[in-house]
Amino acid sequence: MAKADYIISLIKSHYNNEPERFTTVALQIAAYEAKLGHTIVANDIKTIIDKAKEVKHKSKSFAPDLQGLIQENVPAVRLSDMISTEDIKSKVNRIISEFVQRDKLRKHDLENRRKILLSGPPGTGKTLTSSIIANELNLPLYTILMDKMVTKFMGETSAKLRQIFDLIEQRQGVYLFDEFDAIGGERSRENDVGEMRRVLNSFLQFIERDHSDSLIIAITNNKQLLDQALFRRFDDVILYHLPSLEEKEELLKNRLSQFTKKIKFKDLLPNINGLSHAEISLACIDAIKETILNDKTADEQ
Ligand SMILES: Nc1ncnc2c1ncn2[C@@H]1O[C@H](COP(=O)(O)OP(=O)(O)O)[C@@H](O)[C@H]1O
Ligand SMILES: [Mg+2]
Repeated sequence: MAKADYIISLIKSHYNNEPERFTTVALQIAAYEAKLGHTIVANDIKTIIDKAKEVKHKSKSFAPDLQGLIQENVPAVRLSDMISTEDIKSKVNRIISEFVQRDKLRKHDLENRRKILLSGPPGTGKTLTSSIIANELNLPLYTILMDKMVTKFMGETSAKLRQIFDLIEQRQGVYLFDEFDAIGGERSRENDVGEMRRVLNSFLQFIERDHSDSLIIAITNNKQLLDQALFRRFDDVILYHLPSLEEKEELLKNRLSQFTKKIKFKDLLPNINGLSHAEISLACIDAIKETILNDKTADEQ
């Protein structure tokens, strides 16, 4: 669509009182701007939508004894913001489409993929993927702060987990157990090895028993955890990796093209060897900041 068409759609949706449509068109405009390399404009639009959503969702608060253990947010990132392989994208798309059409699947006694395990090195888009899924499905994202749970409630972690899984049943959302191996990973350092093992096992059992309408995403950086016993508890496993050459180039283009017309992104590749998606993104932001603070344009540098 051309820009004028977007504006017309936006005006129409306002006067037809279609707030959902309004948001969709606004996001399309953000995507359109991003495609042109206008990332700041695109991000500004997304931030406005994000803030509006936060107000709308203003959370019903959690039971007092769960407060401080769960973080709620309503992210505004889309699949197009993630740079990754077709394989990862199609897996994410399948999770989204099965969720949307879960009633159709149920009629045939089938369940949508809703217990997902994400694994891979830090900074490759695992947390980002969880935000994308929540946003695409218009669901709140609840992040369970595993480290807090383990340190604060040592000895009663399993009871807390039960409360969290009750919540998963009662309140539909995307529930993220980020770096859930914190509960198992402490094993070697803690004296109470037995307690840690029990907690990890009960976590896996809760997952197995869950039949809610929510989505459960568990993230681990710990490859050793990825044994068969763990795999079969999940409906889908997505493996992340450091960016390929193509991904690196796409990432640089995505982050920098608004600021520089002359640089050949391929020439920068040797400088970012071995870096993750997150590290490359940060390096780009630093480079942009430096250019701004030195009152130069990127192409003068
Ligand atoms: N595949 C990716 N594509 C685009 N940006 C990414 C990607 N992976 C990471 N990033 C950037 O780095 C930030 C941190 O990544 P994150 O998803 O938290 O990494 P992980 O959870 O795998 O450690 C993201 O918010 C995003 O800005
Ligand atoms: Mg993460």
